Amino acid sequence: MLKLSKEIKKRRTFAIISHPDAGKTTLTEKFLLYGGAINMAGSVKGKATAKHAVSDWMEIEKERGISVTSSVLQFNYDDFCINILDTPGHDDFSEDTYRTLMAADSAVMVIDASKGVEKQTRKLFKVCLLRNIPVFTFINKMDREANDPFELLDEIEKELGIKTCPVNWPIGCGKDFKGVYDRKTKIVTTFSGTSRGQKEGASSEVSVNDPDLIRIIGQDYRDELMDNIELLDGASDEFDMELVSSGKLSPVFFGSALTNFGVEIFLRNFLKMTSPPLPRMSNKGLIDPVNEKFSAFVFKIQANMNKAHRDRIAFMRICSGKFEAGMEVYHVQGNKKIRLSQPQQLMAQERKIIEEAYAGDIIGVFDPGIFSIGDTLCVSAEKFEYEGIPTFAPEHFARVRQVDTMKRKQFIKGISQIAQEGAIQIFQEFNTGMEEIIVGVVGVLQFEVLQYRLENEYNVEIRMERLPYEHIRWIENKDTDMNKLMGTSDMKKIKDLKGNPLLLFVNSWSIGMTIDRNPGLKLSEFGR
Ligand code: G4P
Repeated sequence: MLKLSKEIKKRRTFAIISHPDAGKTTLTEKFLLYGGAINMAGSVKGKATAKHAVSDWMEIEKERGISVTSSVLQFNYDDFCINILDTPGHDDFSEDTYRTLMAADSAVMVIDASKGVEKQTRKLFKVCLLRNIPVFTFINKMDREANDPFELLDEIEKELGIKTCPVNWPIGCGKDFKGVYDRKTKIVTTFSGTSRGQKEGASSEVSVNDPDLIRIIGQDYRDELMDNIELLDGASDEFDMELVSSGKLSPVFFGSALTNFGVEIFLRNFLKMTSPPLPRMSNKGLIDPVNEKFSAFVFKIQANMNKAHRDRIAFMRICSGKFEAGMEVYHVQGNKKIRLSQPQQLMAQERKIIEEAYAGDIIGVFDPGIFSIGDTLCVSAEKFEYEGIPTFAPEHFARVRQVDTMKRKQFIKGISQIAQEGAIQIFQEFNTGMEEIIVGVVGVLQFEVLQYRLENEYNVEIRMERLPYEHIRWIENKDTDMNKLMGTSDMKKIKDLKGNPLLLFVNSWSIGMTIDRNPGLKLSEFGR
């Protein structure tokens, strides 16, 4: 029990959210550098391989012998066992990116200091908000020209609706980046351009009251810093751990991942402020990670890793207790006992069988097609279900039909199975049957995946006609009369497979108009 509690308490499971190019890969790589998982960050290898070094985690795993899956990166730092969840971001942005946040206990939000809050950060942040998980902000690229730090904080607060509390404060930026000031210790850590961030940077620390500071950063920067400190102490929100834990206040750090400046300060503070796996809500109340036996929920299903057999891997987040290879668990939604005989951590193409894992960890298990996203597994006498994973609003839609009308059956089977894995969502016209199928996806790549998989796995050729809609809303009022609902001319009424009514809109203006025209109508961006 003591070992179990110790193992769980040292777990920190988080995701890094950012817009592409803000520096997520670089920051992850630097975390690994501090964790001793790699000795030299990828930047030493030049541009092409730098990305490769971390995004292709498989390679790192092979080289350094650390535990990696295509979904999670695990390493130790100090006394912590860190699980960084991969949130696919570039072309492979999909509903999985959102779902991964359901498995995280906190999020690190990386923001490019010259760009501020960008589109994808905004989307991912909304999901964090849904769960009230703590969000820690790292404002990156201070070694380049940056926006005014006060304006950046203002933008985060206004755009994302979260309060901010700077833990440290930058002095200058770009070629005049002098360092950061720690508001608690009142110490300035000076920026000494490390050799492109290859090694842990050698920086010096000096008290803000030390007269030597003027020599080091110059009179002007020191004066400006003193003014800023005064402003900050007067205007910014006080640090309040309770607000941080409930996702209402984001501690903010400034730094430069590439030059490795401010990264370790961030990592140390972040690990201290973030929590180990906490109790999660189920239909039988809160489930304690330490006192309850093994339980987990499925947050992602990856299909056809091996084309030869149509197998799938279900990724689950362990929420309580210890997992042991070969253990018998109860699959709540399937109402069946099953043996998790081939538990694995997935290494891109390679699979490694694991012996044990703890609450906070992610494991992938072979799925013969029995799991659905959100399913619970547990071993306790009293069965319980974790709260389900919401359906996230797709932003791209297409009308899909099979080319060969004789293949209707395969088409329906294929498209339904792919939807069950959660790669796509399928809808129908509100007033007609299954004839017309409308597919919604979060990332456009999923359309290609759908087409490819239907052709290759189900032998069905399809035609796809992209639709102009960009927004979908679930109707929360159960008693809405769809025939009486007054929308805009470009609005479309559809339903999901369970018959729930939904609305499609071309733009957000139409959403506002529809709400105005139907007093009391409640629309939601998440489906339950
Ligand atoms: P991502 O995973 O969020 O998409 O971002 P990634 O880390 O790949 O970083 C995107 C680009 O930004 C990379 O440049 C990277 O070297 C650079 N970068 C990351 N952090 C910093 C930083 O703190 N300062 C500076 N100056 N640059 C940073 P790249 O793809 O090699 O292109 P290029 O910008 O070198 O042309």
